[in-house]
Amino acid sequence: MIVLVGFMGAGKTTVGRLLSGQLGLPFIDADAVIEERAGHPVSKIFADHGEQAFRAAEHETIAGLLNGPPAVLALGGGAVEDARTRRLLLAADVVYLHVRYDGAVARVGGDDGRPMLRRPDLPTVYADRLAAYEAVATHTVSTDGREPADVCRDIVGRLGSAVPPRTG
Ligand code: S3P
Repeated sequence: MIVLVGFMGAGKTTVGRLLSGQLGLPFIDADAVIEERAGHPVSKIFADHGEQAFRAAEHETIAGLLNGPPAVLALGGGAVEDARTRRLLLAADVVYLHVRYDGAVARVGGDDGRPMLRRPDLPTVYADRLAAYEAVATHTVSTDGREPADVCRDIVGRLGSAVPPRTG
């Protein structure tokens, strides 16, 4: 299982699709699975049931997917805030797509489908998540100013080499 983590706008879905083609593995977007199961988009789940309900569904969904057949799996930007999810990720190859805050906002700013973008403390949310991304990452790849194909090539190269140890 190859898991992609990183903040909104890091390119997890775009890079994940390319990577799945390169590796011959299916691509799964955890948010798309949550939406399919709920029958509603993420923004409606947040609006109708609140962030906590979304986070609970997010953890359950990811736990199930990590137990399933190998795939390239892209997680929503907040998934790593759940300590239980972080623990499960210790068994996977986890690629952290790093994006600078201003780059992330430039890519996704104004997207109504991303309720977290309305948070007035978004810079703090970003800063607080960095340690969690790093804790689960077996590889960290910068995406700032890079084409998705270039990022993908970088990841394929790194996956071919030994996986460095993690502390969790
Ligand atoms: C979220 C990121 C979104 C989605 C939800 C919450 C977050 O996924 O899971 O809107 O908390 O950062 P992307 O990172 O794919 O935008």
